[in-house]
Amino acid sequence: MAQRPCWGAADNDRHSLPLNGAFLMPDKQTIAFYDSAAERYANLFEKGSAGKNLNDFLALLPAGGAVLDLGCGPARASAHMRDAGFLPDPVDASTGMIELANKAHNIGARLLTFDDVDMVAAYDGVWANFSLLHAPRADLPRILAAIATALRPRGALHVAMKTGTGEERDTLDRKYTYVSVPELNGLLDEAGFDVLATVEGKEVGCTGTNDPLVVMRARKRG
Ligand SMILES: C[S@@+](CC[C@H](N)C(=O)[O-])C[C@H]1O[C@@H](n2cnc3c(N)ncnc32)[C@H](O)[C@@H]1O
Repeated sequence: MAQRPCWGAADNDRHSLPLNGAFLMPDKQTIAFYDSAAERYANLFEKGSAGKNLNDFLALLPAGGAVLDLGCGPARASAHMRDAGFLPDPVDASTGMIELANKAHNIGARLLTFDDVDMVAAYDGVWANFSLLHAPRADLPRILAAIATALRPRGALHVAMKTGTGEERDTLDRKYTYVSVPELNGLLDEAGFDVLATVEGKEVGCTGTNDPLVVMRARKRG
């Protein structure tokens, strides 16, 4: 697979969000990376062409459907969705990414973390492309359950993760949760999804290493 661009722009003092009485926050160093990296990458302003995974996901949605782009980064996927007649709602925990997305696409990107997903039957699809890999493993069941609640019945989910085991920081200080394919299958099943497609591959990311990955498309049961 081709090398993906790297993201990010500045600030970081607001990630303290209440949930059920607890205070949860995105990993500070991870968000600091995304906040600080954006302006370095001029290609973030290009739209490029929609990839097969995005087109295959959109094919599962009703025409004009609403899509939560969770951990949208520069929101290129949302820009494609909008061009294709869908209604994207791009959200991210990085202020730098939000600013970049809105500068590039004027698309209404807004600050919202995985822990803020409390919408009910609001979307026909959720696009979580290489974003949930920054959630702690212990939080994945709860976040996937919140995504299921945010979807309408039979809503579609795209999730892309790096495969492997454990949780660790990369050389850019971003914290990752690596999952196995059966593990992600199980997590989706427990959250109330039927997995429709599994695509495994490898990709060179920001650190320059060629890492294994998995993409799953799933439908909410019911
Ligand atoms: C690898 S980038 C992927 C961006 C985009 N989905 C794409 O494919 O181009 C990961 C994104 O997840 C965001 N992110 C990390 N932790 C998050 C959290 N707890 N809540 C929301 N977004 C988060 C980062 O700020 C970053 O923009």
